[in-house]
Amino acid sequence: MNSSNKKALLNVLANKKPHRRPIWFMRQAGRYLEEYRQVRKTAGSFLDLCYNPELAAEVTIQPLKRFDIDAAILFSDILVIPQAMGSDLGFVQNEGPKLSTTRSMSDVKKLEIDKVNEFLSPVFETIKNVKPELADHVSFIGFCGAPWTVATYMIEGGTSQDRFLSKKAAFSGEAWFDVLIEKLVLASIDYLEAQVNAGVEVLQIFDSWASDLPDMQRDKYCYKPIAKIVNGLRERGVTVPIIGFAKGLGAGQVDFCGQVDLQAIGVESSLPVNWIKNNLIDNIVVQGNLDPVLLDIGGPGLKENIEHIISYIPMDRHIFNLGHGVRQTTDIAHIHQMVDTVREFDGV
Ligand code: CP3
Repeated sequence: MNSSNKKALLNVLANKKPHRRPIWFMRQAGRYLEEYRQVRKTAGSFLDLCYNPELAAEVTIQPLKRFDIDAAILFSDILVIPQAMGSDLGFVQNEGPKLSTTRSMSDVKKLEIDKVNEFLSPVFETIKNVKPELADHVSFIGFCGAPWTVATYMIEGGTSQDRFLSKKAAFSGEAWFDVLIEKLVLASIDYLEAQVNAGVEVLQIFDSWASDLPDMQRDKYCYKPIAKIVNGLRERGVTVPIIGFAKGLGAGQVDFCGQVDLQAIGVESSLPVNWIKNNLIDNIVVQGNLDPVLLDIGGPGLKENIEHIISYIPMDRHIFNLGHGVRQTTDIAHIHQMVDTVREFDGV
């Protein structure tokens, strides 16, 4: 096998038969790993870790040392873009992100998109540090947040129960909201292009709160902004495959992959695999969708649920993953069990 044939993830994304079902999992570098918690302590805060190219590279690689998986994902966060545009950002222990709020045209006008890549240059250094450390079969994933999801954090000032202010701004057609989305589109194109130039081979766009958008608003605030990012990258000659993860669209996943020229979509755990088989896999490669709680609790239910998923989705149309990020309380033995179960089922 030459080295490009060894990359199961890249092969599936190119509609080629992989030598095995690609596996990676969202938040694979994180607090459930003891070695992550150690490095995190050395770095100081979570953001100090994100902007430290040596330590961020180290934690990017940590899960690959433990598990026989097929991809590394850059260690960073979706909220570095608002920070690079001028929002104040901090992460408070056990509370999550806190940002200065963006709630008017004058707030939006203060956001600068020209210096985003300069501010984020340590992230590109991280990518350069990781690249030579990866084995031949490992694909390297870069990412950003989708404009809707990133905007919700900027408007609410952090994580919120129901994203009420964001939904209010979107649903009532506030002009400043549209300008905010447009700025995020432009900044994301620059940022993702620079990640690819630094060495990532796949991109994923996270729209974690896509399910907030009712049918009539999905086109304008989920599909179109993501399509603009994808098309903007293609116009600049970026050819790497792109995965869209618009969590919670349900049956709307069909529209999503119809409206945006993606190479794969990530799907939430609540989407039935029989439905995925009948409605998606003829058109697009699907990533997901094991419930992270099943992985956390382990036991016979874990094996049964994994086998249920992979019995419906053939290995050349599937990227095995979770329906959302791995939980902090997950036992690493369950992750070994997950990988072994997938490999045994596929006979590889
Ligand atoms: O391993 C990977 O997946 C790569 C790194 C990565 C992180 N965040 C690291 C992280 C990625 C791809 C993200 C994406 C991200 N960040 C999303 C989209 C995916 C999703 O989870 O829905 C969102 C919404 C964020 C914003 C964010 N970052 C929140 C709300 C929080 C706090 C909640 C929490 O889990 O603590 C974070 C913090 C964060 N991002 C951590 C990690 C490892 C934990 C920070 C710590 O070490 O204390």
